Order: sequence, then C-alpha cells, then structure tokens
Amino acid sequence: MSEPNISLYPGSFDPLTNGHLDLIERGARLFDRLIVAILRNENKASLFTVEERAEMLREAVRRLGNVSVECFDGLLVRFAEQAGARVILRGIRAVSDYEFELQMALMNRKLRPGLETVFMLPGEAYSYVSSRLVKEVYRLGGDVSAMVPPHVVERLRAKGRI
Ligand code: PNS
Repeated sequence: MSEPNISLYPGSFDPLTNGHLDLIERGARLFDRLIVAILRNENKASLFTVEERAEMLREAVRRLGNVSVECFDGLLVRFAEQAGARVILRGIRAVSDYEFELQMALMNRKLRPGLETVFMLPGEAYSYVSSRLVKEVYRLGGDVSAMVPPHVVERLRAKGRI
C-alpha cells in the first residue's frame, strides 16, 4: 500500500478566519491527511496564545475526520519532515500574496527539495479576509461575524477591548 499523502497547512492563525477554514476544507478533500500547523512565534506580538489558537482550530475542524492541529517552532521544513508531510499547503487570495508566498516556497524548496508547496485559492467570498484586518475591524467596533466562525467571535468578545 502506498504511503498516505500528508499535507501541512502552516500559519499564525491569530485568529482563524473563514478563509482559513475554507482552505482547510478544500485541502482535506484533496489529501489523505491534513495537519494544520500553528507557528509558535515569540517575536511576533499576537492577540491569542498558541494554545487558544489551537483550541479554536480544533473546535472548527472537529467534524473533519482527516484534519488535526499541531503547533511547531523552528523551521517549517523540519517540522514537515517530522510529521511525514510531503506537501506544504498555502492559500493565495490575491496577486499581492504571491510575492511573499513565492519567496517562502522557493526558500523551503531550497532547504528541502522533496517537499512541494501547493497553492490553493480560498473561496472568492473570502478574498479580502485576513486575521490582521479582522482584529482591526473588531477593535474599532465593526461586525466580524461574517469573517470568522461564531466561536471565534465569542473568543474575541471574551478578550474584551483589544
Ligand atoms: O500565517 P502566516 O503568518 O502567513 O504564516 C507564515 C508561516 C508560519 C508559514 C512562516 O512564517 C513559516 O513557515 N515560519 C516558520 C519558520 C521558517 O521555516 N521560516 C523559513 C520559511 S521560508
């Protein structure tokens, strides 16, 4: 029997958006297993702790049998190797995402030639949604309920004023 095709979907997920979730659902249909990998980045100021982000993601993917959530630090390619992943999955919303994604994909390929980066397009309804803008809109009193799952809205509310 051939090895399962495991894909790693890495990111900050601070917080998870409906765009991320859309991509996870698409990836879960394409690969045998999908691991959502949250970067522990001590240098980047985040709203939610890594544990909070993992909890929100786990709740969102509970209904998807082949999706799991893990945290990592250090090099992504190293974590991919440990996890047995052959593919890194990334979403591209617009041309503006492309330059950074290209750079990362080529760097990762240089570091680990056998690991392929696969780009997918999230649903066009989410092309303007980013974690950064969700936090900004929420902080300024805007309604983000169309952009993140309901349990993420609750978590934002529980944070109070951000
Ligand atoms: O959601 P983000 O912030 O766009 O995700 C960026 C992420 C986590 C995919 C990227 O920063 C990453 O892979 N970091 C791990 C460290 C690493 O491997 N750096 C070299 C990548 S070219």
